[in-house]
Amino acid sequence: MDDKKILFSAIQPSGILTIGNYLGALQNFKKLQDDYNGIFAIADLHTLTVRQQPSVLRANVYQLAALYLACGIDVSKSILFAQSHVSAHAELAWILNTICYPGELSRMTQFKDKSKRHEDNINMGLMDYPVLMAADILLYQTELVPVGADQKQHLELSRDLAIRFNNLYGETFKVPEGYISKSSARIMSLADPTRKMSKSDANLNAFISMDDDKDTIIRKFKRAVTDSDNKIVVSPEKPGISNLLSIYCAFTGLTFEQAQEYFEGKGYGDFKIAVGEVVADKIDPIRLEKNKFLSDKQYLDSVLSEGANKAERLAYRTLNKVYKKVGLVLRNR
Ligand code: AMP
Ligand code: TRP
Repeated sequence: MDDKKILFSAIQPSGILTIGNYLGALQNFKKLQDDYNGIFAIADLHTLTVRQQPSVLRANVYQLAALYLACGIDVSKSILFAQSHVSAHAELAWILNTICYPGELSRMTQFKDKSKRHEDNINMGLMDYPVLMAADILLYQTELVPVGADQKQHLELSRDLAIRFNNLYGETFKVPEGYISKSSARIMSLADPTRKMSKSDANLNAFISMDDDKDTIIRKFKRAVTDSDNKIVVSPEKPGISNLLSIYCAFTGLTFEQAQEYFEGKGYGDFKIAVGEVVADKIDPIRLEKNKFLSDKQYLDSVLSEGANKAERLAYRTLNKVYKKVGLVLRNR
């Protein structure tokens, strides 16, 4: 690792990702990895906070590893690993638990949402989720954390815990900054544009998965909920059209003004097909590339193992410092 700043992010292997994950997270990772020392994790321990089928989870870990690579994470520049392979994450989470209060966790929006959705399984892990996330970030002396807007509150807690620990025990952690790109921070559901596009939506037409082929993508966009008049403009009164324009702009790099001008006078039908086409053109090659990686599990295992070795070295540097500061006796090796 050279002296560039550290960037850390992670994604849960909880299913096939959507274009929301791609635009909010993955796409930025690729762009940022040249200017930062990128560390990217598969947040498998986080996924366990919602009941998983073990064989499906295992398959999803490989799916996500292959997708990271297909989206351009370059393991000669960046570190790619599975969170559970580096036990320092769980260890630091324990220490951070001792300086975090239940009230801070019970008021988190995502905890409240997930508690409603999984009423039969409101477990301690679900509540503690943001503390493990803080451990992920703080272990690497991270300076930048690219995430979608839904993670802002969790990131804020990571900063609070870093500052609190530093005040209690002396300078130990860097205080991380978030990186939330404006146009793609929050991609909304195609079926209900007031809700976030989510891979766990029961309505398959509500999201575009990174595994959808061109026909499926265009069909889903044709069905996307829009608004009553026929103007293609960004406006708070037109959440459906605004969301489609955001997606169009995020995939083409155009500004809202340029896109609005381009679609002036055109109907919703043509507009939706045009959005579907730019999305499919980008997603299709990624899906094919991902499938190539997936067919070589041995290669994926070797990438993850090498990634874990590199991550572990960095993580234990911070963890040892933390253990010393709080008064634990370091094991004599
Ligand atoms: P998750 O699937 O919850 O592990 O999310 C992985 C990353 O994708 C996080 O950085 C999220 O903030 C981001 N993300 C998830 N859904 C969306 C969305 N609809 N729009 C933008 N970013 C998203
Ligand atoms: N909680 C994040 C999500 O659901 C995933 C995640 C886990 C993460 N650890 C992280 C993101 C550390 C950024 C940094 O999207």
